[in-house]
Amino acid sequence: MKSVQAFAPATVANVSCGFDILGFAIEGMGDRVTLREKETPGLVVSSIQGDGGKLPKDPIKNTCSVAIQALLDELGQNVGMEICLEKGLPLGSGMGSSAASAVAALVAANHLLGNPFEKKDLLPFAMAAEKAACGAGHADNVGPSLLGGFVLIRDYHPLDVIKLHVPKDLYCTLLHPHFELNTADSRSVLRDSIPLKHATIQSGNVAGLVAGLYEEDFDLISRSLRDVIAEPYRAVLIPGFYEVREAIKGAGALGMGISGSGPTLFCLSKGKEKAAKIAEAAKEVYQSIGLGVDVYFSAINTAGGYVLEG
Ligand code: HSE
Repeated sequence: MKSVQAFAPATVANVSCGFDILGFAIEGMGDRVTLREKETPGLVVSSIQGDGGKLPKDPIKNTCSVAIQALLDELGQNVGMEICLEKGLPLGSGMGSSAASAVAALVAANHLLGNPFEKKDLLPFAMAAEKAACGAGHADNVGPSLLGGFVLIRDYHPLDVIKLHVPKDLYCTLLHPHFELNTADSRSVLRDSIPLKHATIQSGNVAGLVAGLYEEDFDLISRSLRDVIAEPYRAVLIPGFYEVREAIKGAGALGMGISGSGPTLFCLSKGKEKAAKIAEAAKEVYQSIGLGVDVYFSAINTAGGYVLEG
């Protein structure tokens, strides 16, 4: 019986100004999924490691099996697979944990089945898993986790996904405070409508960020890392948000925002040294407010999900 193992990286969704439409992938951190063919049809989630027993094994609820089932339904096949998930990402962190599981599962399943789909065509199946996980089928985590780099979702209906240019020296620092914030809760504080003046500000910043990436203009990237739609409502859910934002300015950050729906914060910088300095400055703030934090810095991952073995 065949077996395949795949990896998919962590992601930063929204990137401040691109609520639900922009995201990028992080080097090094991510989830692994091993699939084994089995003789009897149907999906079985046989083991999950690294989740503290919190994730469901029920195939109707688990993001790996939901994603694979969506793929099998599209193919009209009823293949039997056993799923083993190794979580490298913390749950409820805002680092695209559910997305990485779904993408790793899909990359492995597609390989096991002889690659019936192009990589980019796996995206709707991953979005079905996001919908099962948090009630919204957003693609700004699954897109970059699958494809790597910076990904823009220009439209959802129909899906129009564009991989953007990544400046060579761009680094990201992630600050993951030790508490969980689930995406459904973090979405529930948002407003259904936004004032026209906020739509104008946000559009200008998205356009500025995309232009800044292509021009490798770090000042323009810095000016564009501003969110007037989600951040004002979500920042209050994240202790230390404003203190960290103040502290990292002196360490050379281009800007800071909430990674996805939080509570992880991300900072962008030019070069690895500044990314490390930002991590140190932020750690001091978390220490002063008595909140545990994991800090991590890396280049932007441009490969996305891939097969490790099989
Ligand atoms: N765009 C989504 C949100 C990302 O902000 O709710 C969730 O990680």
